[in-house]
Amino acid sequence: MRIGVLTGGGDCPGLNAVIRAVVRKGVQDHGHDFIGFKDGWRGPLTGAVAELGIPAVRGILPRGGTVLGSSRTNPFKEPDGVRRIKESLAKHEVDALIAIGGEDTLGVACRLHDEYGIRCVGVPKTIDNDLSATDYTFGFDTAVNIATEAIDRLHTTAESHMRVLVVEVMGRHAGWIALHSGLAGGANVILIPERRFDVDEVCGWVTSRFGASYAPIVVVAEGAMPVDGDLVLKNATRQDSFGHVRLSGVGEWLAEEIERRTGKEARTTVLGHVQRGGTPSAFDRWLATRFGLHALAAVDGGHFGTMVALRGTDIVRVPLAEATARLKTVPAALYEEAKVFFG
Ligand code: F6P
Repeated sequence: MRIGVLTGGGDCPGLNAVIRAVVRKGVQDHGHDFIGFKDGWRGPLTGAVAELGIPAVRGILPRGGTVLGSSRTNPFKEPDGVRRIKESLAKHEVDALIAIGGEDTLGVACRLHDEYGIRCVGVPKTIDNDLSATDYTFGFDTAVNIATEAIDRLHTTAESHMRVLVVEVMGRHAGWIALHSGLAGGANVILIPERRFDVDEVCGWVTSRFGASYAPIVVVAEGAMPVDGDLVLKNATRQDSFGHVRLSGVGEWLAEEIERRTGKEARTTVLGHVQRGGTPSAFDRWLATRFGLHALAAVDGGHFGTMVALRGTDIVRVPLAEATARLKTVPAALYEEAKVFFG
């Protein structure tokens, strides 16, 4: 069998581990041939391919990013997109495609399979951990570790100057990174997109932390919004490439508000793409490797239109349609649980 592989969407630590596992098992156990499509769906659209045999995957397990490149290209938004994809797959004699990506990449795989009969299997990735149908996505653990280390470091400088330190982490629609790193790093306030925050309440927590002679750390997800967000939105919005309205620089804005309302000095650290870069954690390598092995098994078993997913410690298969139907956000009860540490 000849199998195409692509990685789409924002890159994420562990992508190379999936590619390696797929190719190693496919070549060693089954004698399959592989072809890499470059830069997500742009590869099959434009015919950009890369050799993908054992030599190409040697040594890539601990490397961040993706050796295949990535993009957010969506063939359904491109002229003649589906026809061009079909032609490309036919030209390279691809029997099946393994698409590694988040909601958008897998949404495309789902439509290509369900509406056009293209034989796709999906592998979920995102540092945001917001894909439903899987307990965890690889990349998340690495991002949480990076954010936690940053919070640990910020505690000591915050205390030396008795300042408020606001840490902005990734998470446009879901606050998983903020919640996990905030708890692990002993943050005094955690703000997530799922729950609008009241700046006066945040200032109350900040003040009470100073009252106990400690300097507060506020972790805020990039997509978190204040309750009076509409007011703020007038001055601080931009549209991302998906047309979503985003509060631009919520961390910086919040630090200024805290300073103005409490009279305490505040600084902001925006972790940004540092959270996505570099070598994957051991957990992410393990999960990505298992996803790769099971994705290959799904192709061999003819289970197209499915995605591999983690349930407990088992890897299962779920329909792509189910996996891409909705985002997994932080439940209210889980957020409430964390509040015992606020202030
Ligand atoms: O989807 C993962 C993610 O890292 C989000 O948390 C973040 O908002 C987004 O990607 C930023 O991606 P980019 O800068 O590549 O558009």
